[in-house]
Amino acid sequence: MEINESIKFADLRKDFFSHAQKSSLYKTIIETNGKIVFGRGSDTPRVLFIGEAPGFSENAAGKPFVGRSGKLLDQWIKELALKENDFAIINVVPIIPLSNENKIRPPTEEEINYFLPFTEKVISAINPEIIVLLGKSASSIFDKNIKLGQLKEWKHMQIFFIYHPSYYLRNGGKGFEDTIQILKEILKQKRKQASLTNF
Ligand code: URA
Repeated sequence: MEINESIKFADLRKDFFSHAQKSSLYKTIIETNGKIVFGRGSDTPRVLFIGEAPGFSENAAGKPFVGRSGKLLDQWIKELALKENDFAIINVVPIIPLSNENKIRPPTEEEINYFLPFTEKVISAINPEIIVLLGKSASSIFDKNIKLGQLKEWKHMQIFFIYHPSYYLRNGGKGFEDTIQILKEILKQKRKQASLTNF
């Protein structure tokens, strides 16, 4: 079931939206006629991708990673052979952060922390096997020292770090291949283990 429609997430979504409406960023939603972005994907995924904050396309659509970065993320998801039920995507901040000049800016630590209790609740409710951290804003709430392509234990889950898709887009849309192959191998091993234990 889609995370935006799933009954399992109905209460959490409601609380999440009312928390977001009380945030200092909320005025941007009114000014841009935009949307608070909860997430997209499955409500029972094995893999959870966590990004930074919505951009203009996401603000208009109300869904994460539907713009240029999203196209690259979709390419990775395809390469990782993840099916629709296998993954979900959220951001550490659900509202577009804009500068005074109406340009996209990274969310501040304070903004990330304001949403942290809800980010944690969503992660617990989703309970993925592995969390793929897309860039520094996402890794900042888990482990600031995690390195590119590294897999670490986190609670009873695992976290994996790759730079944000926008980083690769700024560098000609290349440079992620080896890291995606590392992640692909990790997911392959996990599938093997799962089929052995299920057997
Ligand atoms: N970048 C992000 O981190 N998240 C989005 O949803 C879109 C772009």
